[in-house]
Amino acid sequence: MIIGFLLLLYVHHLNGVFSPDRTVYDAYGVKIAVNEILLVHAQNARNPPSFFIQFSPYNNTQSSSQCFINCLDSSQNYYVYTVAVGKKPNKNQIQFFFAGEWINDNSRPFIGVATYNLTNNLSDSPNSCANSFSYSIQYLDNYEHQEYYVIGVEPKDLLVYGFSNAFVTIFDSPNVLIFESWNRSLTWSNSSFIPRAVEINDNFGIIAGFVQNDPKERVKYSPIIYLLNFNSSNHRPIIVDQYIGTATPGT
Ligand SMILES: *[C@@H]1O[C@H](CO)[C@@H](O)[C@H](O)[C@H]1NC(C)=O
Ligand SMILES: *[C@@H]1O[C@H](CO)[C@@H](O)[C@H](O)[C@H]1NC(C)=O
Ligand SMILES: *[C@@H]1O[C@H](CO)[C@@H](O)[C@H](O)[C@H]1NC(C)=O
Ligand SMILES: *[C@@H]1O[C@H](CO)[C@@H](O)[C@H](O)[C@H]1NC(C)=O
Ligand SMILES: *[C@@H]1O[C@H](CO)[C@@H](O)[C@H](O)[C@H]1NC(C)=O
Ligand SMILES: *[C@@H]1O[C@H](CO)[C@@H](O)[C@H](O)[C@H]1NC(C)=O
Repeated sequence: MIIGFLLLLYVHHLNGVFSPDRTVYDAYGVKIAVNEILLVHAQNARNPPSFFIQFSPYNNTQSSSQCFINCLDSSQNYYVYTVAVGKKPNKNQIQFFFAGEWINDNSRPFIGVATYNLTNNLSDSPNSCANSFSYSIQYLDNYEHQEYYVIGVEPKDLLVYGFSNAFVTIFDSPNVLIFESWNRSLTWSNSSFIPRAVEINDNFGIIAGFVQNDPKERVKYSPIIYLLNFNSSNHRPIIVDQYIGTATPGT
């Protein structure tokens, strides 16, 4: 019986590896994003996990221009790592992107977009903020829990890139014409690269993180910045330069 119980515990541990502290807003990614159209804040500690939305202008915080919406469904079987918006959004396409992980019985990363239905006029109906968002979500079925998973939105809000230590993904909206993910080794050769932050501009991007040094070295990790270009035919990022910073033993 004891062995059976231990086995159960072991299996349970195997399955439920990822149990993030939902109250720590600094963990696993940037939880807030804002542009001239809207502000979005992922709140994993709410039950169910929610996005807080505030529409601009930000000096006019009437309750009709703000709301909470469920991140996915009404369970707590998922965790939202991060949210992102474009810097120069198209006013005729109000949306934000998010990335997270389904943690029901096994971990499954996802990337998604929440699109606002523009035929609803905020000033006409106070409830339209909460009821007018629809989601489109893509799951990365071939990948497990990711400790680091960052997303970067192209300025015009059309494409979003996701980077983790295992995969790179590209996703668009709202009709999901592009959803692709591929092994990180096709984008960067150093398999230890841990992405921590990404910024995408019109013609290039930068991604910063850490690479693991030789285990015999005193300094275990070095900070690294990659400069990215984008393939004009398939939009995939291509590394064109890199900078490795000098690190101290505590890095
Ligand atoms: C908010 O700021 C804008 C731009 O500065 C201004 O035109 C508008 O009157 C302000 N609204 C309120 C409610 O203060
Ligand atoms: C947007 O809202 C309008 C009015 O409520 C509705 O008729 C329409 O089907 C909605 N469009 C989408 C894509 O949900
Ligand atoms: C929304 O409704 C208000 C008041 O009815 C109106 O002034 C405004 O032009 C409408 N906005 C849009 C985008 O239809
Ligand atoms: C990614 O590619 C590397 C090197 O080719 C390989 O070792 C690894 O198993 C691949 N990972 C996945 C999830 O396919
Ligand atoms: C990754 O980069 C670091 C720093 O240059 C280097 O020490 C390490 O060997 C590289 N690892 C691989 C797998 O290329
Ligand atoms: C860009 O993508 C195309 C396939 O769509 C490929 O044939 C080409 O080699 C890629 N270019 C670079 C520089 O990676």
